[in-house]
Amino acid sequence: MASDILSIILAAGQGTRMKSDKIKVLHKVGGKPMFQHVVDSVTDFSSNIIIVVGHQGDLVRETFPDREGIKFVVQKEQLGTGHAVQQAEGYIREHRGTVLILYGDTPLLKKETIKSLVSGHQEKKAACTVLTALMENPAGYGRIIRNSNEDIERIVEEKDAGIDEKAINEINSGVCCFESSFLLEALQNLDNNNAQGEYYLTDAISYLSNKGEKVIPFLIDDSREIIGINDRINLAKAEKIIRVRINLKHMENGVTIIDPDQTYIDSEVEIGRDTIIYPFTYIEGKTRIGNNCTIYPHSRIVDAEIGDFANIYDHSIIMESSLSDNTNIGPFAYIRPGCRVAPNAKIGDFVELKNAEIGKGTKVPHLSYVGDASIGEGTNIGAGTIFANYDGKEKHRSIVGDNVFIGSNTTIVSPVKIGNEGKTGAGSVVTKDISEGTTVVGVPARVFKKKEG
Ligand code: UD1
Ligand code: CA
Repeated sequence: MASDILSIILAAGQGTRMKSDKIKVLHKVGGKPMFQHVVDSVTDFSSNIIIVVGHQGDLVRETFPDREGIKFVVQKEQLGTGHAVQQAEGYIREHRGTVLILYGDTPLLKKETIKSLVSGHQEKKAACTVLTALMENPAGYGRIIRNSNEDIERIVEEKDAGIDEKAINEINSGVCCFESSFLLEALQNLDNNNAQGEYYLTDAISYLSNKGEKVIPFLIDDSREIIGINDRINLAKAEKIIRVRINLKHMENGVTIIDPDQTYIDSEVEIGRDTIIYPFTYIEGKTRIGNNCTIYPHSRIVDAEIGDFANIYDHSIIMESSLSDNTNIGPFAYIRPGCRVAPNAKIGDFVELKNAEIGKGTKVPHLSYVGDASIGEGTNIGAGTIFANYDGKEKHRSIVGDNVFIGSNTTIVSPVKIGNEGKTGAGSVVTKDISEGTTVVGVPARVFKKKEG
């Protein structure tokens, strides 16, 4: 198959049936805006991808800050799918060959399916090929009317269909290929004499077939792939289907998912082999998890990076942070954005970290808040230690060295520096720097013992 396809993705509609302040195609499925699934599925073989935007077009653009080959055209008024494609006329005119048109609200379509559609279209030298499906309940979709050759005669929209036509269960998926010259001609001959007063892309298809050009269907095997998302009910259905697919992919790659029905992993997550995922776990965004990790139940991991052999115990939340190999986190840990936890470190129960660096083998085992701090290697932070990082006006950062021992219930009033091998007594309130090897105690903490020698 040629790899110089011009792909046009329609994403200008408001999606009124979603009853949302946000346009439809920005709603997420599998953690990714639905139209982005469509874009990703055609990227490999498209020389150019044109996204037709309208409502909230700027938000759609923002999804692709740095992708080459993606261009946007604006459809100011949403006068129909045919009108939307007309906005890309300049690009169609420049393109010799196949134009692929997709709707931004069909995120379940697989790349392989689209490729077979395009290959079939090119092999059969059709003017237009439409991806169709047999639906048990075709309501809401355009119906395919075939002619005596079993080619497509026309497509009739639900709202324009008579009773007999409504009974047809072969539907238009909205995905189709045109040879560019035929598409240009058909676009120039659209009108809006229909129930919705719109310029339908489906009429371009009927136009060509009327003229005697070759317009053929390409029937999809699995009709679930072309579910068009029009409302929140479709959205939930699509979410379920995508979740099954994502979990299957990870299991095929050697990840154990104890109960795939209760495990929620976003599309772009990567997980290494022999990692075990317990139920009721959410792994979101661009999270990467290494090999041989165990993620215990009820955890939520968002945009995080986790090394190999890490254990995330029950009910932990990890956001935008990185955890190295052999780290032990939780249960009930809350790791907020901006943390880096080095190998073999332990962040225990009811510990909150924020903007914190935790050195190799360091332990923060229980009931602590570590906000805006860097802690060295081999240090132990006693139960109930609080980094008081906020003075009511500003946040401050503290630095704790290697092999430090912080006694239970210490308050570290930032900013302070605690040298290597420093110690604090239980209940100390540290307001000043502690030099290397020095022990402090009390409120406010005073030197109890200096480093010997
Ligand atoms: C469309 C098809 C129907 C097909 C169904 C498959 C037409 C006339 N009908 O109907 O045959 O069975 O999809 O899901 O094509 N859009 C624009 N600009 C517009 C209108 C729509 O960009 O002016 C975009 C929307 O954002 C959406 C897509 O086109 O992503 C489809 O529009 P939608 O209104 O959902 O069409 P359907 O009524 O579902
Ligand atoms: Ca639709």
